Formats: sequence, structure tokens, C-alpha cells
Amino acid sequence: MNPPIARIRALRSVELRVPTVTDSTDFYENVWGLKVVERDGAQAWLRGTGMQHHVLQLSDAPQNGLGRISFAVATPAEVDEAARRLESRGIGPIAGPGPLEQVGGGYGLRFADPEGRVVEISADTYAVTKIETGDAVPVGVTHVVLNTVDIDAAVAFYTDVLGMRVSDWSEHQMAFLRCNADHHSIAFNQAEWTAVNHIAYQMPTVDHFMRGIGRLRHHGITPLWGPGKHGPGDNTFSYFADPAGLVCEYTSGIAQVDEDAWLCRVWRRVPELSDLWGTAGPPSKQVRSHMAGVPDPGPARPAAVGAAVSS
Ligand SMILES: [Fe+2]
Repeated sequence: MNPPIARIRALRSVELRVPTVTDSTDFYENVWGLKVVERDGAQAWLRGTGMQHHVLQLSDAPQNGLGRISFAVATPAEVDEAARRLESRGIGPIAGPGPLEQVGGGYGLRFADPEGRVVEISADTYAVTKIETGDAVPVGVTHVVLNTVDIDAAVAFYTDVLGMRVSDWSEHQMAFLRCNADHHSIAFNQAEWTAVNHIAYQMPTVDHFMRGIGRLRHHGITPLWGPGKHGPGDNTFSYFADPAGLVCEYTSGIAQVDEDAWLCRVWRRVPELSDLWGTAGPPSKQVRSHMAGVPDPGPARPAAVGAAVSS
């Protein structure tokens, strides 16, 4: 059996394709609490208070979709080795390995997952310093949840090829995968079509989390669902819709996994386990609709789509 292509260290950033770049950028900067580090007419790059150069890239597109997910590896040599290992699995690169000609720099590699999502791994991105603030603003992106038409195939790819571990299942509906001590950095939700389900932003504490919700309320924006606390991951949640209708989440307190001791569990989808505090109630039709999103054909990349996974 082939080893994973690399040791993924962290989720760095997400690129979202939206038809509302200007409005979405204004929302994420002036309401959500990110900071624009660079922008042009069709794109914007935003950071949190943490160590990533940017955590969100917004790109102009006719409809909502995922641009790419970017993960960190430790060194450029690991990127090169990952490219060789992908090749041996019959998966060609979309770009790289090599210097990433992009905002934030880095040495990386891009390839497609089985549903045509663009995955990037990178090392040596530009440094930024932490922003020290008591404000209720996100540190960065902490997890991405993706709707998949084949949850078993998605989990197989991200565990087998990318070396992630399944932390928990929510019945056979959701799978939570980790690449470091955080309970999940990515999760898959079985659905009728491929789409972004939601992007979660880490608040440092429950106090920041609640004050963030309060700031949105002052902007006239109330949660689609939450505040509450999930069973799987033990994290707080509050979900909102951005100007494109994509779901963004404030969260805090994600469970930390002891790699040697953790045992994967299957959570039954009952209210007392998906809403530990009993404050959120069941998800509304409205939040479910936003999370279902629109079918995402992905960015144009005909050469890469359909690349086979071998194990
Ligand atoms: Fe989440």
C-alpha cells in the first residue's frame, strides 16, 4: 500500500468563488472581522489575527463554488516528494511542484480530489506577525465542511492519499477528519451534489465567540443556527450566511486529540448530541438550504478532473 503523499500539518486557507466579491469582501472585513491584505477588482485576500498570511481568498465567479483548499506541509522537499507520490498513484498535478505565483508566496503543488476540488499543499509561505487584540475577531480558518456525493470515497481519498485520520462519524452522514491535534480540519457531509457546506473561523475563547455574535447582531445579522455546542468536536457553533449565501461559522474550543489514545466514535444524530447546550434547537430549513448550496462544477481544470486514486 502506498504511503500518504505528505504529512499535512494544518489547514492554511480557503478560496471561495463568489459572484459578489465586493460585497463579500466588505462583509468579511467590516462585519466578520477579517482584514484585507490585498485586493484587486476580481479578487481579495483576507487574514485573521493568526500566523497565516491569508485565510480567505475571494475570487469572482458566475456562481458560488470552492476555489481551492490549502494545507500546510513542513518543507519544499515534502512538496516535491508529494508530487512524486501522487504521480505513482496516477494523479497528475494541476500546478507545481514549484514556487506558487500567488499572493502569500510559498512553494506548493495543486491537484484535484475525486470530485474535482482543487487541493493545494504548500510550504515556505510569507510570514506575518500575529495581531494582538482583544477584539472578537477570528484567528483564522479552523475547518471546512464539504458536501460530497460519496462520503466513503471522499474519506478514503483524504485518509489514504493525504494521511488524515477520522476523528468521529455523525452516523453515516458526516465524517470529521483531522490533520493535527484539532478534532477536525475538514469534514464531509453526504449530500445530493458537491458543494461547500460551510467554512468555520476560530474565535480564541467562548467570550470572543459570543461577542462576535453580538457584533453581527448590531449589524442586523442574526445566526441561521446557534449559538450552540456540537457533540462531535465539542466546539461551539453559530452559523451565518455571507452576501453570496455561503455559510460561515464562528466556533471556539475545538476538542484536542491525543493521537495515541483517541478512538473514533459514531455519534447518533439526536438533538441532545448535536446541540449539547440545548440552546440552538434543530437546524432550520433555511440553514439546511444554505449549507446544501448550489452544485459546484469547480474551476475549469479538464486535464485534472477524473484523476484516479490508487491505493
Ligand atoms: Fe463547522
